[in-house]
Amino acid sequence: MTYENAVEAAAFIKSKYLHAIDVAVVLGSGLGAFADEVENAVKIPYEEIPHFVRSTVEGHAGQLVLGELGGKHIAVQQGRFHFYEGYDMQQVMFPVRTFGRMGIGNVILTNAAGSTEPEYPPGSLMLITDHLNLMGENPLRGKNDERFGVRFPDMTEVYDRELQKIASEEADDIAHERFEKGVDDEKRDFLHRGVYCALSGPTYETPAEVRMCRQLGGNAVGMSTVPEAIAARHQGMKVLGISCITNFAAGMTGENINHEEVMETGARVAEIFKQLLRRIIARI
Ligand code: HPA
Repeated sequence: MTYENAVEAAAFIKSKYLHAIDVAVVLGSGLGAFADEVENAVKIPYEEIPHFVRSTVEGHAGQLVLGELGGKHIAVQQGRFHFYEGYDMQQVMFPVRTFGRMGIGNVILTNAAGSTEPEYPPGSLMLITDHLNLMGENPLRGKNDERFGVRFPDMTEVYDRELQKIASEEADDIAHERFEKGVDDEKRDFLHRGVYCALSGPTYETPAEVRMCRQLGGNAVGMSTVPEAIAARHQGMKVLGISCITNFAAGMTGENINHEEVMETGARVAEIFKQLLRRIIARI
């Protein structure tokens, strides 16, 4: 996947949607419903976009949705490419590289994740403050094309502090409003903060791996996001990361983990997740 490939994909998308895009959003497993929020939507199936590959996992639609939300022009990746599907890192990060070539300055990366924190229950959200890349590979390994970014990118602040602040403020307002309206019987802080620990999958972790992640400082575990976050920072894009906590990670309860539960929890938080994203986007 070359720089020219990304330029070609970007030009194709721009030919289908003529407005400059303010924010790109990558939707995680079970969170695809957010794309329905987009107004005046132009939908482009991945197979039509040069050099994009198809997303194979259940719960991912596999299309790019361009349109308006919260007064902004946005591009929503409904379905992402995962490393565990067998794609190489070049393919996994290609959409974000394309967004960079489209001149998009902000990307919101979302995912479903397992919690390693007793205080971060399923159905809550986690603002990603930093990550641990335990996927066994770095997406930027290989010859560097300086037109994307530098050989040795700084990763001190992968997740933009200003965007984190906006997300926290909006979550706080939503919690307040829900309490005032009587939706929640107490002011519920649903947006936790923490470190996202990425493993390659497709197996869920063993309890020993979950303990390892926790001891290393991870608060949630998942199988995505990190490659895209690295690619985005390499290109100088601002990144916001939000995990939807769909389950307690393996070994934390007596229960086994299954994909259906992950998808169901995604659907359960869809309303609050949509609301939060809409409000964040309006402020970017
Ligand atoms: N582990 C890894 N990825 C996940 C999990 C998990 O527990 N839940 C949702 N995605």
